Amino acid sequence: MEESDSRLERRGFLTLAKRILIASGLAAFFGPVISFFWPNVLEETPTKPVVIGPEGAIPPLESKVVRFGRYPAIVINTQEKGLVAYSAVCTHFACIVSWNPESGMIECPCHAGFYDPLDGSVISGPPPSPLPVYRVSTDNGQIILRSS
Ligand code: FES
Repeated sequence: MEESDSRLERRGFLTLAKRILIASGLAAFFGPVISFFWPNVLEETPTKPVVIGPEGAIPPLESKVVRFGRYPAIVINTQEKGLVAYSAVCTHFACIVSWNPESGMIECPCHAGFYDPLDGSVISGPPPSPLPVYRVSTDNGQIILRSS
């Protein structure tokens, strides 16, 4: 009788171990697949203004990537709207975007994502949403960056 009880305990333990291994295997396989398709979410943008340099530090048709909280932001001096600023983190898979003055677009090098420099909207490629827009202005001769 005692041997029968220990067999049942062993069988229960092995069943539990098998289920844990199957769950771990499924999580290891599907976790990266789900995270690939799940758009990243930005957190921790600064609530206080950030000085990014003196007025004129970004000449026309040039850009500057600056640290904005935990994440980089890109400030572009456009011909049409003057200074504009966006998160520099691609909304597809979090690569850092850059400004290309020849093409006139913000480009993501990872999967050929292209954004409009005038509003941050997606022009083409896999990004699921526009770049988050930041406010940029000049105060007392300094370029100031703020979250919206
Ligand atoms: S990470 Fe930017 S297009 Fe994929």
